[in-house]
Amino acid sequence: MSKLIYILNGPNLNLLGKRQPEIYGSETLADVERDCIRVASDLGLQVRFLQSNAEHQLIDWIHEAREDAAGIIINPAAYTHTSVAILDSLNAFDNPIIEVHISNVHKREPFRHHSYVSSVASGVMAGFGTQGYQLALQRMAVLVAAANK
Ligand code: DQA
Repeated sequence: MSKLIYILNGPNLNLLGKRQPEIYGSETLADVERDCIRVASDLGLQVRFLQSNAEHQLIDWIHEAREDAAGIIINPAAYTHTSVAILDSLNAFDNPIIEVHISNVHKREPFRHHSYVSSVASGVMAGFGTQGYQLALQRMAVLVAAANK
C-alpha cells in the first residue's frame, strides 16, 4: 500500500521567496518542502518534492508517479494555463490529484482564470499562500485512506 505523494512544482517556483514576494510571500521552496515533509510525516505519508522549469521534466515525473505514487499534488505554475500535455499526462495517472496555487489566481489577470489541470483534479487550493500545500496534504491523506479501504 503506497503512501508516497509526489509534490510537483512548475516553472519559476525555484525563485519562491525572491520572486514577487507581494504575491507569493517570502518563504522559499525549501521552506515549503520542509513544512510538507513534517506535515506528511504526521499524516503517515511520504513525500517526493520536486521542481522543474521544463514541461517535459514535469511530464516525466508524472509518468514515474504512475509506478509508485498514491497521489500527486501539483502546482503547475504558468503551465496551468497553457499545457494540454501536462493535462494528458495527469489523465494517465489513476490516483488522486490536487492542484495548488499559492496566489488566488481568480483575483488576478483573466488569463490565469483558466486551468487545464482543474478538470482532472479532485480539488484545487488557491490563495492560501504556501499553507495551501499543507492543506492539500491533509486532504490527500483522506483521499488515500479512502482509496485503500
Ligand atoms: C501560481 C499561479 C500561476 O498563475 C503563476 O503562473 C505561477 C504561480 C501560484 O502558485 O499562485 O507561477 O501557480
